[in-house]
Amino acid sequence: MKIAINGGGPAGLYFALLMKKADRRHDIVVYERNGPDDTFGFGVVFSDETLSNFMGADEATFREIARNFAYWDDIEVRYKDERIRARGHGFAGLGRKKLLNILQARAESLGVRIRYRTDITDMRPFEGADLVVGADGLNSFIRERFKEHFKPAIDMRKTKFVWLGTTKAFGPFTFIFRPNEHGWFYVHAYRYAEGQTTWIVETHEETWRRAGLDKASEEETVAYLERMYAPELEGHRLLTNKSIWRSFPVVTNEKWHHGNMVLLGDAAHTVQFSIGSGTKVAMEDAAALADAFAQHHAVPEALAAYEEARRAEIGRLQSSALISLKWYENALRYNDMDPQQYVFSFMSRTKGVTYENLKLRDNDYVAAVDRWWAGKVRQEQGFDVPVDKPPPPVFTPFRLRDLVLANRIVVSPMCQYSAEDGMPNDWHLVHLGGMAVGGAGLVFTEMTDVSREGRITTGCAGMYKKEHVAAWRRIVDFVHARSKAKIGMQLAHAGQKAATKIPWQGGSDEPLEEGTWPIVAASAIPYLPHGQMPKAMDRADMDKVRDDFVRAARWAEEAGFDIIELHMAHGYLLSSFITPLSNLRRDEYGGTLENRMRFPLEVFDAVREAWPAPKPISVRISATDWVDGEGIDGDQAVGIARMLKAHGADIIDVSAGQTSTRAKPVYGRMFQTPFSEQIRLEAGIPTITVGNITTADQVNTIVAAGRADLCALARPHLADPHLTLEAAAHYGYAEQAWPNQYLTSKSQTMRLAAEKNRQEIELREAAKARPVEELKDAAE
Ligand SMILES: Cc1cc2nc3c(=O)[nH]c(=O)nc-3n(C[C@H](O)[C@H](O)[C@H](O)COP(=O)(O)OP(=O)(O)OC[C@H]3O[C@@H](n4cnc5c(N)ncnc54)[C@H](O)[C@@H]3O)c2cc1C
Ligand SMILES: Cc1cc2nc3c(=O)[nH]c(=O)nc-3n(C[C@H](O)[C@H](O)[C@H](O)COP(=O)(O)O)c2cc1C
Repeated sequence: MKIAINGGGPAGLYFALLMKKADRRHDIVVYERNGPDDTFGFGVVFSDETLSNFMGADEATFREIARNFAYWDDIEVRYKDERIRARGHGFAGLGRKKLLNILQARAESLGVRIRYRTDITDMRPFEGADLVVGADGLNSFIRERFKEHFKPAIDMRKTKFVWLGTTKAFGPFTFIFRPNEHGWFYVHAYRYAEGQTTWIVETHEETWRRAGLDKASEEETVAYLERMYAPELEGHRLLTNKSIWRSFPVVTNEKWHHGNMVLLGDAAHTVQFSIGSGTKVAMEDAAALADAFAQHHAVPEALAAYEEARRAEIGRLQSSALISLKWYENALRYNDMDPQQYVFSFMSRTKGVTYENLKLRDNDYVAAVDRWWAGKVRQEQGFDVPVDKPPPPVFTPFRLRDLVLANRIVVSPMCQYSAEDGMPNDWHLVHLGGMAVGGAGLVFTEMTDVSREGRITTGCAGMYKKEHVAAWRRIVDFVHARSKAKIGMQLAHAGQKAATKIPWQGGSDEPLEEGTWPIVAASAIPYLPHGQMPKAMDRADMDKVRDDFVRAARWAEEAGFDIIELHMAHGYLLSSFITPLSNLRRDEYGGTLENRMRFPLEVFDAVREAWPAPKPISVRISATDWVDGEGIDGDQAVGIARMLKAHGADIIDVSAGQTSTRAKPVYGRMFQTPFSEQIRLEAGIPTITVGNITTADQVNTIVAAGRADLCALARPHLADPHLTLEAAAHYGYAEQAWPNQYLTSKSQTMRLAAEKNRQEIELREAAKARPVEELKDAAE
């Protein structure tokens, strides 16, 4: 095969040598505009796992890499004046120039022709090639030339960074986060050879401008940073190599191949440096493409197989990198945190690194986090939590007004569509009772409607008839008598989504064909195009709805509920006022956010007045409409939370979406938690987070990192109402209350959990990639 490769970076060279190694008959040319030794950048990093993969792909290259890398295991974060270390983050660093020299030599020894100092400006050199590879980096010529096929998009991120080096050696991968008179700066420093360290400095755009770095030459940048980092550099200089300030471009392409052309590495996709190097990804692409050719001889099949094999992995990496770079973009938010929490937030910024994951790497580090957390709970909430043998964060108590919850797990409100004329029955008793027995700290009822016409469906539960009070009282009494859980009632009016079908009888939000009733909303807009047209509420309607909420709150108190939650999310009545997508009013209840919040706040105030002062009120909101560039977003949600806080809301239950049929939600693990974090830290109010939280490990991570105070789990509780009891067993938390009737299971469950933990650790150890130091020994 005749293969022409544009770009002699890591992707192009590695692909060339792997293909030549697989079949010496391939005629392979690499075009590279630079000479063999002129390159940018300093060190690149590889994890244990990447190195193990390199060993499999080409042992000769691997041996050369392994002979030259610098290894570290610890991460050290220096935040303000503190230093916190965590072990178990095995990584190897290698100079970019060294790496390129290794790849160049290996490729040439196999017979690859490298045409240095050849700048490709048209497609003539590729004529007659069976395969054309665009391994030409960030500003790829091939990608741009055929952009209508590859369909690239470039998202320029907010922070500014510069890539430098220094001769100062650091043992661990060192992060130095501290401010100067202009603002905050973030250094990532890692050793890649004896006396050679990569030194990346990142800062916020405003700080960069304030410091005059937007106008600084390379020399002026270095002078400024050497002055600032004199204490850390201890007399060492900063080194430059095309070290200009940049914004990170996140490159994506709808397609990575077209005809006989394919993109590799940065040309196809970029992965921000804070979760690992683009070099590793570029080389893994090269290995994947070479693999695809080992399986498929025809070019189109091989290219399709390569893209198929890499898409999901690159998607995951790019999404982790985006979350990680957002941590830096939003880092000013974290400045009020204790160093322990700041560092834990940083360590767990990508979803893959959790409390338990960190514990497996370094038990002592997580034990220190547990002790610090227990101390914080003692000090701020006045609980007698043991600091010497602290429970994991999920099993620490939480207080709101006079309400005390035993742990951080909440059963999220879930409609059961099983009531008749709003009346809860045995289903609700068994369902909610089972959840309470299962150990959650707080159990919410489903959305319980304040009027008959405010029900979503005919099966929805209500608190609008006097008879409802006793039926609810029976459930509340059971929960209080038979468990340590507290129970809350979610109060709502369905608004534009009222009078719709029970989901399993014809789909969610579908209008009733028979037995329907007139509905009201902020504006006369049906939720579904074919939905019932609601009446835009007039003042009399508002008075009625407000009074219905107040009556329901009084009855909830009579029934003995510990907390109420006002439902201002998901497009129901109060939510329909808040989002501009469904509120087109021109009176004082429409227009600005203040105006749109006027009626929801009026309801809140009236309910707060009626609900006993020692009992808290939660408010559930949709923190985003998920409609790009329109409607509610995270910043506006902070505004909403601030207003609710000023009116006396105790906690915000941060949900998202379901307010517009145009929404494009971005799902994933804990996908709504970033909104909870933003609201909690920027509005300064406790939050409940919800949405695809499935493990106690995630709850620990979220709570300890300050992303929420409580975690609500909905669907996981339907599958396993006792998930809190199981989590307690998993952590060996013997203080968890089990119902007397179930006590005989407690010790067995705890013993089995301990055994399972032991087996999992053994399995992980066995499956673990070989540590880089071992690999290095093997290479020598
Ligand atoms: C300034 C800077 C510093 C960096 N430093 C580091 C670092 O220290 N560590 C790290 O891990 N990552 C670093 N990166 C990121 C890393 O370089 C990339 O993610 C990685 O190199 C991608 O490999 P690649 O082979 O896809 O592209 P590249 O390494 O960019 O290689 C592309 C090659 O194609 C050549 N080329 C491009 N267009 C043409 C053309 N028209 N004709 C001929 N040749 C052409 C280029 O000269 C280049 O050699 C840095 C990036 C930048 C921009
Ligand atoms: C069966 C079911 C019914 C739900 N009913 C309600 C409800 O009554 N009120 C509400 O605010 N959210 C309701 N939700 C949303 C959940 O409370 C929760 O926000 C959502 O399911 C995401 O959490 P999860 O990923 O843990 O399931 C419901 C979810 C499910 C699965």
